[in-house]
Amino acid sequence: MTSTFELSGKRILLVGATGVLGRAFARAIADAGARLTLADLDTSPVAELAAELGASSHAIDVTDEASVTTAVAAAVAAHGGLDGVVANAAITSESLLADGDGFPPFEDYPLATWRRTLDVGLTGAFLVAREAGRAIRDSGGGSVVLTSSIYGVVGPDHRIYKDQPFQSFPGYSASKAGLIGLARWLATWWGADGIRVNTLSPGGVANHQSAEFLARYADRTPMGRMAAPDDIVGALLFLLSDASAYCTGQNLVIDGGLTAW
Ligand SMILES: NC(=O)c1ccc[n+]([C@@H]2O[C@H](COP(=O)([O-])OP(=O)(O)OC[C@H]3O[C@@H](n4cnc5c(N)ncnc54)[C@H](O)[C@@H]3O)[C@@H](O)[C@H]2O)c1
Repeated sequence: MTSTFELSGKRILLVGATGVLGRAFARAIADAGARLTLADLDTSPVAELAAELGASSHAIDVTDEASVTTAVAAAVAAHGGLDGVVANAAITSESLLADGDGFPPFEDYPLATWRRTLDVGLTGAFLVAREAGRAIRDSGGGSVVLTSSIYGVVGPDHRIYKDQPFQSFPGYSASKAGLIGLARWLATWWGADGIRVNTLSPGGVANHQSAEFLARYADRTPMGRMAAPDDIVGALLFLLSDASAYCTGQNLVIDGGLTAW
């Protein structure tokens, strides 16, 4: 008997594949037997990861409509159709820190950073969902997963970020909440076409944060720790696979219980 949780033969596109969660997602989807295409901004890292996993790869800039169209078309051409997509790209605290954008207080928050955050995290997912969704419909239906966050559901506790090099930032929460609304809209738009659309909302993932931050975050979490990337992959496989065949328009929160109290 084949497991409804496996992805054997399913043609999946993962956008935002070379980050902390993206790499774990890519490995899990490949291990589950999918015919995978990986896409991310820079060509070399995504090509290297794809070679390791036996996947195909393509560069993509989700803020560029033509780039999204080209990358989705390449994924469809590589495997002869598309059964699922994960819109996983975002501007994160780590990337703002690396880019030197900093975390100004909201009263001085730059419009340009707000716009860039929404452009990648929300409008980028709109473009990926539009292009990939059409291809999935033409392939007979499938699954669209948008990666949201607990910060699309609850506000951050700003106290845990005190004196840390990174902070939470407003465009992140706004884009993540927007994804939950977009997924619900698309779930009702595409329901009759057999295209399921859900959001996956991870809690914070441990990634070289300070011991002080890890302890503060753990204290905010019923399970007493941040997530590891592998804590999140089971939920993604569920949403991409036939195990979730009757699940659409939902937000699956995997957060060690943080939003439960
Ligand atoms: N790590 C966490 O704690 C956490 C928690 C909740 C939700 N998430 C969400 O999970 C997803 C993955 O997060 P992560 O921690 O792996 O972040 P990350 O910063 O490590 O990865 C984000 C990826 O998006 C890509 N990207 C950025 N701009 C892009 C663009 N214009 N076009 C295409 N790709 C672009 C980056 O190159 C990177 O590979 C994000 O949507 C993030 O918001 C992460």
